[in-house]
Amino acid sequence: MNAAVMMMFFWVILVFLYLKMQEKFSYWKIRNIPYVKPIPIFGNLKNFFLGKCNIGQQLASIYLDSNEKLVGIFMLHKPAVLVRDSDLIKTILIRNFECFHNRSASTSVDVEKNPDASTGLMVSKDETWKFIRKTITPAFSFLRLKTMMDNIQVCNNEMISYLLSKTKENREINMRDVALRYGVDTVCSILFGIEANCFKEENAELRLLARNLFDYRIFQRGFNIAMVFISPFISKIFGFDFLHIESVQNLVKILTQCLRDRNMNFRRRNDYLDMLSDAMKKYTGKGNLLCGATETFVAGNEAISSSLCFAFYHLANDLNIQHKLRHEIKEIMAEGKQVTHEQLSQISYLDFFTKELFRMYPIVPFLDRVCKRNFHLENSNIIIEEGMLVYVPLFGILHDPEFYPDPYTFRPERFSDGHLDWSMYFPFGKGPRMCLAKKYTDLVIKMCLVNVLINFKLELSSKSPNEMTLHSRGFSCQPSGDVFLNLYKLD
Ligand code: HEM
Repeated sequence: MNAAVMMMFFWVILVFLYLKMQEKFSYWKIRNIPYVKPIPIFGNLKNFFLGKCNIGQQLASIYLDSNEKLVGIFMLHKPAVLVRDSDLIKTILIRNFECFHNRSASTSVDVEKNPDASTGLMVSKDETWKFIRKTITPAFSFLRLKTMMDNIQVCNNEMISYLLSKTKENREINMRDVALRYGVDTVCSILFGIEANCFKEENAELRLLARNLFDYRIFQRGFNIAMVFISPFISKIFGFDFLHIESVQNLVKILTQCLRDRNMNFRRRNDYLDMLSDAMKKYTGKGNLLCGATETFVAGNEAISSSLCFAFYHLANDLNIQHKLRHEIKEIMAEGKQVTHEQLSQISYLDFFTKELFRMYPIVPFLDRVCKRNFHLENSNIIIEEGMLVYVPLFGILHDPEFYPDPYTFRPERFSDGHLDWSMYFPFGKGPRMCLAKKYTDLVIKMCLVNVLINFKLELSSKSPNEMTLHSRGFSCQPSGDVFLNLYKLD
């Protein structure tokens, strides 16, 4: 083939691809539905792909630029829907759950090729999801968690001892590292009954494993995870996975050994691991349910450690908030050395503080669902087609000045004003698929803040970031860098 023919061939393919893309991009226009104009290749995700913001922030800017109840968007080449209206959100997440119960990640996984990757709650679908969700939910119940107070206090004591010894050498501490150690120690202790020893051992196996699983600073990890939520089609072709498969296998080995020990010693804790083990005996679907536990391990340490990192930063950045919170904690604890469950629930400013934390930094910054069959939206000409992805821009909603005036200012008091539209505050999601670890998160984070604040004063250091920024990769909200603070021991 000579050069001229090859050139012509190349142009024909290029024109063909261009026309095909134009045809795809006319999807919303020909249906007369308001949409955001896409650009070739990226669709409406240009800023995300240029590394300027995470997907949650990208969807938030579409949300904030529009006034429509529903907007047509393009996730790369694929048409998708972004819902903006409170009632429509309920329609998708609650009223018509049977049509919108799966996430995009669940269609990104090839169950036949990789059954183990489909057994986590986040990515599982249909009957598998229902079965797992039902069996493990009791592990996160209020009563179950109340019995774990002593375990959580042990993790806190270890953290405080670690901080005491570290601050003797140097008061400037990387609080991101401390938060990760605490997140791993608590999730392992509460859900699996394993002592991860992240504060006692510098190279604790489970801490290293946690870092590999979900650190967006590892470029490929962040990219793969994001693609699973953006494009099931491309993820399947390239085999992008939600979790790092080698780390999953390592964690499964540790959990299998732990279950073996329990069986040999006839020990039962009635915790997440026991419930998973019961489920494994009844489960007839594909894949090893223990692999799915990796997702909970990741969610447990990632959500807790990132949230704490944001919290530490704001406490150091606003000393009034820090003093007010410490004052209220001390008043309620009186002479006690260890906070009780009842006392924790009485510290109202702590509750406002954590609510504001989850508003400013919703760890999962958007919700996504896949439409199971053609769905006609009531009182409109809109049909959401089978297989179409539907997004709820949580980050955008939680930063909408209409609901939260001055949304980028960290102000816990906004939750004591009584003027909030609570239907637009749902950082843990809504409906039957919402986060099952809300109480767990509240407890573990509040315990940590109480213990740190009664022992230390936090101040910004010369290495502290000027402002808190979010990592632009992946799908969840993570701080973009480390958070160094100066810690001063209180008497
Ligand atoms: C700040 C803390 C956290 C926030 C803001 C958060 C938020 C969320 C959100 C928004 C969802 C999706 C809900 C939906 O699609 O409607 C979710 C799902 C989930 N979260 Fe959390 N989460 C947090 C902490 C945790 C922790 C600590 C764990 C585990 C120990 C956890 C485990 C999960 C799991 C397993 C799911 C999937 C549930 C399902 O599909 O049935 N989360 N979370």
